[in-house]
Amino acid sequence: MVPLTQTGFRLLPGALDAEAQASLLTEVLRRVEVAPLYRPMTPGGKPMSVEMTNFGPLGWVTDALGYRYQPTHPVTGAPWPDIPAALLKLWDQVAGATAPPDACLVNLYRDGARMGLHQDRDEADFSFPVLSVSLGDTAVFRIGGVNRRDPTTSVRLASGDVCILTGDARLAHHGIDRVLAGSSRLTPGGGRINLTLRRASPGPG
Ligand code: SIN
Ligand code: FE2
Repeated sequence: MVPLTQTGFRLLPGALDAEAQASLLTEVLRRVEVAPLYRPMTPGGKPMSVEMTNFGPLGWVTDALGYRYQPTHPVTGAPWPDIPAALLKLWDQVAGATAPPDACLVNLYRDGARMGLHQDRDEADFSFPVLSVSLGDTAVFRIGGVNRRDPTTSVRLASGDVCILTGDARLAHHGIDRVLAGSSRLTPGGGRINLTLRRASPGPG
């Protein structure tokens, strides 16, 4: 373990209390009924271990054509459901951004799912932060620097924790090494749901 060198990584442990987590989960599951979780393929043709869907005007997708944002669900062809109001409010309160998010990626981690070290760089303007909310089982999150070979450190993200990548950390490499199965009883069927809010399109003005 090495200390974090980025100044822009903010962890807000327990930002959502048990009631707020349960009510957000209800909002998420309601939307997942119409925008079902699916298993995306990497551009290289490998299935990812997480299941995904999105909320908001734009959703992040990956397939043989590459990584991108698009307004519709790749399986159903329907527009993505709206972003839950509680998440828009959270962004307003803690992200310090001048425009609302237009994309909320939903990742479900079950059965040993993980996420390799990567940067979030498919957005138009990196001056907008990335804000993520963890629900359910605790994750072992890894964060490094802008260069892939920069030293990394790991941080546990528990249900209700919020983390923000902004400033020097906006383009930091990050990933999920593993999820501690059974560490929470929040999600039906177990596992972890991560909700990532981003501004994908250029900001107004
Ligand atoms: C991601 O980087 O897309 C997901 C991070 C997380 O699951 O906490
Ligand atoms: Fe990411």
